[in-house]
Amino acid sequence: MPVTPPSTPDRSAYLLAARGEPVPHTPVWFMRQAGRALPEYRAVREGITMLESCMRPDLVVEITLQPVRRYGVDAAIYYSDIVLPLKAAGFGVEIKPGVGPVVADPIRDAAGVATVRPVTPSDVSFTTESVQQLVTELGGTPLIGFAGAPFTVASYLVEGGPSKDFAKTKAMMHGKPDLWHALADRLADVAIAYLAVQVEAGASAIQLFDSWAGGLSPRDYERFVLPHSAKVFEALKEYGVPRVHFGVNTGELLGLMSAAGADVVGVDWRVPLDEAVRRVGSKPLQGNLDPALLFTGWETIEPEIDRILAEGKAAPGHIFNLGHGVPPNADPEVLHRVAQYVQTKSAHVPA
Ligand code: CP3
Repeated sequence: MPVTPPSTPDRSAYLLAARGEPVPHTPVWFMRQAGRALPEYRAVREGITMLESCMRPDLVVEITLQPVRRYGVDAAIYYSDIVLPLKAAGFGVEIKPGVGPVVADPIRDAAGVATVRPVTPSDVSFTTESVQQLVTELGGTPLIGFAGAPFTVASYLVEGGPSKDFAKTKAMMHGKPDLWHALADRLADVAIAYLAVQVEAGASAIQLFDSWAGGLSPRDYERFVLPHSAKVFEALKEYGVPRVHFGVNTGELLGLMSAAGADVVGVDWRVPLDEAVRRVGSKPLQGNLDPALLFTGWETIEPEIDRILAEGKAAPGHIFNLGHGVPPNADPEVLHRVAQYVQTKSAHVPA
């Protein structure tokens, strides 16, 4: 049963759930719903680098809309990347296919920190243009704007690329705390500037991705990361759009990530939503199907969705999602079925 969105995003299932209001059905979208799992994405990206594609409004609009068309999800997410605002402000970063962001000159000192500066609206005029066009084309389907949180972005800048242990980043935090705080403060300003451009152009909600925060102890998170993410949420408050906070492996950090100022907290698959609400406090939650299950059969997936929908009732609002991004080799047919099943099944379960 295809879901007919309302004429404006304000009464959409996604925004109602994000505000903790009664919903017609549990909204569903997928982190990284745009991307290599879709053949139409691979076709459009042919011969164009990831970051180049992010700066071309024609491609951004097409790629953002592809999963909305294909899956019938309840929200679109602006096609970009967490390092894009750095690139747009002249910082030396690329995205290596199959690897992730790589930095030519990793940041290790004050001179390095000084090379990081927030975007101005004119650096990202393509963002304004893309978001405005998307909002028009999407009608009643909300567009989620996003940015990388200071810690996750800093981890790429300090390590020089993806990392498993964040050893250099942690060495900076503990060994040169003033340098760390200066870097994280600049990255908070980068996120604020980029999110403000997206919201001013019409994005209905924002999500701050602190994907790798789960690598930190609660004590280090609270001391080195929380104040900077809190600055981002505080600065966005005036816009009145829901602010979502997400990270992977953050079971021990959920309370702190909520306290940083999120209106909605994203949960990976490791903590059931009824337990997550105890850790977060009474706030809407987003999550949390294990993406690995997409590779099992429907007979495994369906009861997991039922379980998640039931556990999600413990929260004042539930936005269904995966516990992390869509894997590049996921089957679009399975994702389509998941979206349809969530929408149909939740519409029949009394609130
Ligand atoms: O559909 C969406 O969710 C919107 C687009 C989106 C992308 N990156 C596009 C992208 C979003 C929200 C991001 C955020 C992002 N980027 C995060 C946080 C979310 C998360 O997954 O935890 C992180 C950690 C990054 C950094 C990054 N960029 C990685 C690790 C990679 C993957 C590298 C690879 O090739 O495996 C990227 C590249 C990237 N960002 C792709 C897409 C569609 C793939 C690039 C390609 O297709 O060539």
